[in-house]
Amino acid sequence: MIDLPMSPLAAPSAGLSPDEIDAMKKEIRALAAERDAVILAHNYQVPEVQDVADYTGDSLGLSRQAAAAEQERIVFCGVHFMAETASVLCPSKTVLIPDLDAGCSLAESIDAEQLRAWKQEHPDAVVVMYVNTSAEVKALTDYCCTSANAVQVVRHIYEKRGPDTEILFGPDMWLGAYVEKELGKPMHVWDGECHVHASIRPSDIEATRAAHPGADFLIHPECGCTTSVMEYVAAGDVKAEDVKMLSTGGMLRYAKDAEPDAAREAAHGHPRQAVVATEVGMLYPLQMAAPDVEFVPANPEASCQFMKMITLPKLLASLRENKFEVKVPQEIADAARVPIERMVAIG
Ligand code: 13P
Ligand code: SF4
Repeated sequence: MIDLPMSPLAAPSAGLSPDEIDAMKKEIRALAAERDAVILAHNYQVPEVQDVADYTGDSLGLSRQAAAAEQERIVFCGVHFMAETASVLCPSKTVLIPDLDAGCSLAESIDAEQLRAWKQEHPDAVVVMYVNTSAEVKALTDYCCTSANAVQVVRHIYEKRGPDTEILFGPDMWLGAYVEKELGKPMHVWDGECHVHASIRPSDIEATRAAHPGADFLIHPECGCTTSVMEYVAAGDVKAEDVKMLSTGGMLRYAKDAEPDAAREAAHGHPRQAVVATEVGMLYPLQMAAPDVEFVPANPEASCQFMKMITLPKLLASLRENKFEVKVPQEIADAARVPIERMVAIG
């Protein structure tokens, strides 16, 4: 596993008083209206950025929001590939990201040259790439997917092109293994991973299972524990109905639908609990959506340094100074739009 830094949990707006944060939020909302900008924020953004956004959501939901945006500007509070995707979907709009260094280790795990070489080894294969890739990689791709619709996208390909279709799936190996297991068919899977999700190991699930008997498990399929959790379920060690493999948007739907489970609460002597295996920023929207459920991080250290680069002061500067624009060159954008639009349409 690559050893990349993870962000400490300290609030990036540390140093600002609550009054200053409030004033900044008001200024951001006023500027967004004045500049005809929509603010989109991923679920892993810091709470104060999520609070000030027009929409928060997962990668698929945010791509759909970008595609439907009526405003002239889109300010993307997320990582670079997300802003690129918005730029591809909305070539006539100005797409801004508050910090150009907000990258993604998973997107870095495959580049266009590597994909070109892989395709040459398998000239008849259909290429499915996770949305966490550069626009250059997308331009060489047949279908993009996110964690919310990866299984549906691959199922769609088998239905449309036949059950023996050869598929190159990348770059996330854990998501690839999950799709293979769900559909019962092997693909060629790239061996990339996200350093944050890969750090959530089977041992973290073992430890939280022991400490929180009766908890539900919400597992993002990018996690390094995905395969072993599916094995626990197959072996009957964990009940299938207690394990949910979900995108961050799926986790939020779980929270919105969560109802008290009196029998389980009585059996375990505490309110409903859910162990959350994904980036820790997700705990904030989950807790807001279901204050009566106790959400427990599977690995409290799993914090994405790139997502946390976006702060309120940088968002304010982005709106004020119209920076930093993310624009995908037209030729690449035209080629990348095809798999992205397929992704947005499926699932
Ligand atoms: P989703 O929000 O689409 O589940 O993606 C998770 C992620 O890691 C984005 O970088
Ligand atoms: Fe990329 Fe992982 Fe961070 Fe998501 S959590 S942006 S996949 S490095």
